[in-house]
Amino acid sequence: MSAATRVNGAWPYPRWVAHRGAGKLAPENTLAAFRLGASHGYRAFECDVKLSADGVPFLLHDATLERTSSGKGTAGEQDWAALSQLDAGGWHGRQFAGEPMPSLANVACYILRNGFRLNIEIKPTPGVEESTGRTVGEHLRRLWGNWAVPPLLSSFRPESLSGVRATAPEIPRALLLDTLWPGWFDTVQQLQCVAVVTNHRLMDEALIGQLHDQGLRAMVYTVNEPEEAQRLLSIGIDGIITDAVDRFSPALVA
Ligand code: G3P
Ligand code: MG
Repeated sequence: MSAATRVNGAWPYPRWVAHRGAGKLAPENTLAAFRLGASHGYRAFECDVKLSADGVPFLLHDATLERTSSGKGTAGEQDWAALSQLDAGGWHGRQFAGEPMPSLANVACYILRNGFRLNIEIKPTPGVEESTGRTVGEHLRRLWGNWAVPPLLSSFRPESLSGVRATAPEIPRALLLDTLWPGWFDTVQQLQCVAVVTNHRLMDEALIGQLHDQGLRAMVYTVNEPEEAQRLLSIGIDGIITDAVDRFSPALVA
């Protein structure tokens, strides 16, 4: 199935997406966060993925370990055997102490078993953008198996989307935009993306119109205020990534 076919058919991803698992209510990018998001009714989750030194895709937002784990230094310079032993929950609260960083394979298990949807943001360690995309694509092909709906792959880095297209062209792609930099639209088309995910402040009626006219879906991050959510819903937004899983109930605010 081509990317164009997918977007012309029914969009298979829920409108509401829990950021980094459950936003700020649990340690980001851990399975504890996914479980908390699910307990608030979320059925779609965004997470950040990068590679260990020995090529294992795992969840972590920052390039370095200090903010969200018991480790030190650049995560991408360490092997998975070491990274998987770190405490990625204790920094958030003692009830989460001992929570590990999940591998992408761990998360695939959780998502598959529960019938949820996943938006994987490829967040490469600087310098390995393209190879991170390639490796994530290879792993997803193996992990994907019988998934009825593949994960949506997004990145701020076109090189990572290009890498993932090289190894897993069938998995849908989205360009993340914090600014509308020159050439962004050409890049979206060259990479055959199915969606664009912008900072919510950039999204307006004209931009949604431009995307929809080209058969692209429009998504935004990170929306935590009800007034802003209402503005975006009223102009036809397709996806909203939020930290505020306790404030927005997907069943009530669809
Ligand atoms: O994928 C959307 C959003 O997560 C991008 O920003 O820094 O939270 O990964 P960040
Ligand atoms: Mg992210």
